Amino acid sequence: MLEQMKSSKKWNLQGLFLVAASFSILSVSPAMAFDFAFIGDVPYNAEDSLRFALLQERINEEDVQFVLHAGDIKSGIAPCSDEVLQQRHDWFDRFKAPFILVPGDNDWTDCHRLRAGAWSPVERLAALRRIFFEPAGRLLGGDNGHLKVESQASDPAYANYPEHLRWEMDGVWFVNLHIVGSQNGLRPFAARTPADDVEAEERTQAALAWMRQTFIEARISEAPGVMVNIHANPQFDGQADSLFQAAFGGFLTSLREEVIAFGRPVVLTHGDSHYFRIDKPLTNVGGRRLDYFTRVESFGSPHLHWIRVSVDPTDPLVFRFRQEMVPENAIRR
Ligand SMILES: [Fe+2]
Repeated sequence: MLEQMKSSKKWNLQGLFLVAASFSILSVSPAMAFDFAFIGDVPYNAEDSLRFALLQERINEEDVQFVLHAGDIKSGIAPCSDEVLQQRHDWFDRFKAPFILVPGDNDWTDCHRLRAGAWSPVERLAALRRIFFEPAGRLLGGDNGHLKVESQASDPAYANYPEHLRWEMDGVWFVNLHIVGSQNGLRPFAARTPADDVEAEERTQAALAWMRQTFIEARISEAPGVMVNIHANPQFDGQADSLFQAAFGGFLTSLREEVIAFGRPVVLTHGDSHYFRIDKPLTNVGGRRLDYFTRVESFGSPHLHWIRVSVDPTDPLVFRFRQEMVPENAIRR
């Protein structure tokens, strides 16, 4: 019996050493790799309903840490009513992984259109925030205990911007900026008022401040990479156009400064033009392309597929992308 006890204690001690050894292995390699799903510009209309259900079903079968949506949760002429926004909310809430939305222009900016209901865009923006983003930091979808997002609204100076979110996973930073299509809300329309101009100006300044603060955090924590998420295609080649310059010039200048100061991989994701692409459109002031900057645009209606983003802090490029087709949704001819 004594011998048995001695041997079991010996075994236990060995077990303890093994446990201690595995803890020390874990403590020297805390960086983990993970995947998330990136979609945008879906669903647009009734035709998209079944295709979106299929897309959601496929993503729900995958081990993804979150689902990121680049905005435009309906077409630009679909009604902007609370009912439609709430219906989209409830739909996105069925993702098994946490669901994170970046607002798009169809979701409020373009709601002045007659067929969308001739709303005041600023009023619809308040509704979008109420339905999707308040209280600040609330996420849709399933279990999000592993994901702690921070909202710019926690700063009293930026209390109006609950949609400006950021989070860190395994050392990598993600930041959402509310920069939309329709020239970032500057495109003229008949019922436009000075309040629409003020809204665009203040929101853009808040977005740029949020981006700067996040890059400061990323530099302090020596993050291996940063991902910046917006809705708009910021027209990297459209800088001669004065309206595009007013809409996106400040953002692109700040982005270039941050990318150069950071010196490690930065990815910009966006939707807006419904054109899946991965490219290198950001240049330095001399016109040479910045190698550590990558732009990724989501699929969008009628192409209801998704992009798998693999994030590995130990990979020199940090972010890898793979197109994931839903074969039943493919346009083949
Ligand atoms: Fe869109």
